[in-house]
Amino acid sequence: MIESFVHRFVPGAPGDPRTLLLLHGTGGNEDSMLPLAAALAPGAAVLSPRGRVLERGMPRFFRRLAEGVFDIPDLIARTGELATFVEEAVARYRLDSDAVTAVGFSNGANIAASLLLLRPGLLKGAVLFRAMVPLEPEQRPELSGTRVLLSEGRFDPLVPLSNAERLAELFGSGGANVTLNWWDAGHEFARGEVERAAEWLEGAERVAG
Ligand code: MLT
Repeated sequence: MIESFVHRFVPGAPGDPRTLLLLHGTGGNEDSMLPLAAALAPGAAVLSPRGRVLERGMPRFFRRLAEGVFDIPDLIARTGELATFVEEAVARYRLDSDAVTAVGFSNGANIAASLLLLRPGLLKGAVLFRAMVPLEPEQRPELSGTRVLLSEGRFDPLVPLSNAERLAELFGSGGANVTLNWWDAGHEFARGEVERAAEWLEGAERVAG
């Protein structure tokens, strides 16, 4: 599966065990989120795949039927493919499998949320910008020990408030440690949002010891 994903890998600083799994939004690619990774956790290794679905030429991580209406069988299949990609990349690049944190924006945040719900244990945590509920899992995911930051925009036309709250509840019901931050913003980033996420990540490291 690793060969099927166009991706970037940037090694971490010596002695830094962290890896950020970068997941871009619709129309992004493996390079779009590199500046964000540098701002969030300089020194961490970076694994950045390009979504394999094309919507009018724009890369995405899974198909949708309309804005906010997802093709669930495709989402489930693509979540499995991405999980396998991560496992293979961890082996290929000799990464610490307990130190992979997803950083996703929009469509990338949605597949990261799906990874957490369908493949609990794969990720140590996740920073999700403008995520929504990707699907309602059949089983409650076992997420104790997993830390999740949801960073949402109050005026986001794509993610209703109640939907973001439901996502936080889904993670929380599985035992995840969830932080839900609201910003006076739409789907785009707010001023100060990245800095706050970087602080949250640093806090996560401290908790992990
Ligand atoms: C999605 O399709 O995942 C969401 O609508 C966000 C987007 O990519 O526009």
